[in-house]
Amino acid sequence: MRDKVIVVSGGAGGIGGEVSARLVSEGARVMIADLNVSRIAENGIVCDITNPEQCEAAAEATVKKFGQIDGMVNCAGVSKPHDSISLPPADWARMVDIQLNGAFYFAQACAKRMMETGGAIVFISSTNAEAAFPRRAAYCCAKAGVAMLTKVLAIEWAEKGIRVNAVGPAYVATEMTQRNIAAGNVNEAQIKARIPLGRLAQPADVADAVSFLLSEKASFITGHSLYVDGGWLAYGYF
Ligand SMILES: NC(=O)c1ccc[n+]([C@@H]2O[C@H](COP(=O)([O-])OP(=O)(O)OC[C@H]3O[C@@H](n4cnc5c(N)ncnc54)[C@H](O)[C@@H]3O)[C@@H](O)[C@H]2O)c1
Repeated sequence: MRDKVIVVSGGAGGIGGEVSARLVSEGARVMIADLNVSRIAENGIVCDITNPEQCEAAAEATVKKFGQIDGMVNCAGVSKPHDSISLPPADWARMVDIQLNGAFYFAQACAKRMMETGGAIVFISSTNAEAAFPRRAAYCCAKAGVAMLTKVLAIEWAEKGIRVNAVGPAYVATEMTQRNIAAGNVNEAQIKARIPLGRLAQPADVADAVSFLLSEKASFITGHSLYVDGGWLAYGYF
């Protein structure tokens, strides 16, 4: 990862923060793009990934600062469970806008700067790309979209030397999960009982997978969704 320039959206968040710190510790030069100004460090830019112009500006600012882009990790996201029967259309649209449209706009902006040099893209998806949860219709559909986006961009940009993969965690011990536990959307004991390895994922587990997929060790892996889920998706018993 030494001297690689990696842009991380949502880098002020739980997963994005851990991913950014890990990449820096491995020698990368990291640019964080996030809505949350207060948590953005020195190499950060305010960016709403649902706004294509702001994605362009973030990618351009990265090239201006570091001269190139070698990789991108899309960690920006929100979770807002709601009964489907009464879900306001605006909430549906906003969720899809952040989780799917934003992922595309951000990847497109960064990939434009990798067309000559190649690079690697990792989307943070979710086990919800595969497993349906109630009260999360927009979230699950958007994450399933990210899994397909991963495949389409991978085959389209392969000739440019750009690999595109996704990491899909089950519940990760971050503020997002804490908020869902506090709001009564998630029962922590039930979740742990449902995961064969018996614990929530740590942000470091996700960072391990992201770092691997960005690295040369994954040079023949593209279009793949790697689930970091403690066995959640494999489990089909009671
Ligand atoms: N935490 C989990 O259990 C879990 C599980 C599976 C997948 N994920 C996914 O991982 C990603 C990161 O989740 P997290 O747990 O780190 O959440 P988090 O709330 O800790 O961080 C999310 C970050 O994204 C930023 N963000 C939100 N909307 C944005 C936008 N429009 N533009 C730019 N930045 C924006 C926030 O400011 C925040 O810094 C999300 O896509 C989430 O769906 C999380």
